[in-house]
Amino acid sequence: MALFKEHLYQMAAYAPPLEGRSVEKHLLLDFNERTLPVSDEVVEALCDFIRSGQLQKYPSYGDIVSELAEYVGVSPEQLMITNGSDQGIDLVVRAAVSKGDRAIIPAPSFAMYRQCAEVEDAEILSPEYDRETGYPTGEVLAEISVDTRLIVVAQPNNPCGTIVSRDDLQMILRAAPDAVVLVDECYYEYSQQTVVDLVDKYPNLVVARTFSKTWGLPSLRFGFLVSQANNIEQLLKIRGPYDINQLSIVAVRAALAAPDYTKDYVREVMEESKPLLESWLDERKITYWPSTANYIWAFFKQPDQLAAYLQEQGILVRPKMDPEGKLGLRVTLGNLEQTRRVIESIEAFYR
Ligand SMILES: Cc1ncc(COP(=O)(O)O)c(C=O)c1O
Repeated sequence: MALFKEHLYQMAAYAPPLEGRSVEKHLLLDFNERTLPVSDEVVEALCDFIRSGQLQKYPSYGDIVSELAEYVGVSPEQLMITNGSDQGIDLVVRAAVSKGDRAIIPAPSFAMYRQCAEVEDAEILSPEYDRETGYPTGEVLAEISVDTRLIVVAQPNNPCGTIVSRDDLQMILRAAPDAVVLVDECYYEYSQQTVVDLVDKYPNLVVARTFSKTWGLPSLRFGFLVSQANNIEQLLKIRGPYDINQLSIVAVRAALAAPDYTKDYVREVMEESKPLLESWLDERKITYWPSTANYIWAFFKQPDQLAAYLQEQGILVRPKMDPEGKLGLRVTLGNLEQTRRVIESIEAFYR
């Protein structure tokens, strides 16, 4: 008899290629991170906290939930903080899905949804995204049954960057009142698309957000969930009382106090870098998925060789397979200068 749950032995760990990445040696365009450091205010707040002689004390989160609730526009009872949105995703799946239940997780998508559902031994249904139409709303609706406990909507999806319309999302919410609809708004500040305002209307809606991407704090692991108060109350029973690192709270508070630093970066990425890369791809008739986030999934000729060449030039991008088995490169958008650099390197490869 296996020591742990038997199905775990058939699974692989989720192990993204993190090794060898270096901010000194590389332009990191492979994990959809912010490509510039956080503000001096955030750094100072962290240093001040470390020097204040409090590291030996368990975390106390103060009024961070209220501060975030105000930023998001919900009531504090409708929000809980998590150790990155990965923990939020895990909590939702653990709370909703039992062995044999069905989870609808369209593919390709962010690996954590599937990983967490597999840990719960769920039956996973994965209708495919389409480059023209994006999220497979029709197929998701058709797959809903009495056994469906979870439906994932990555908003926008990673790796493709596509978004689901509010109407489609509400159709799904209405069609599956007994399933949790997890809307992952990890890239919200880039896409500016949110359904947090629908939380009062739909008891089955849970929204996940993070400070990893736009706010540039993935190393500190801070995210949050938004849902109706009764749902948050249940999810809080699973999260540990100290799961969120105190330093992340310090950094988030400092970042929220000076939002322009983040807004200026988002503006440059979305209004300058993104159109630049898109028009460069258009001119060369290189196929890519329409993205509302800080990354573009493009289908270059000789993608493996191009990714290797870029790596030699100190630029990391992420190879990702599309539903037809074609390899694309997901390129994170940095500031204008960084985007020009990656374009010049791609041009040099094909010369
Ligand atoms: C769609 C999506 N959701 C969640 C995450 C995880 O973010 P966090 O660092 O908050 O756990 C990622 C990270 O790549 C992502 O792409």
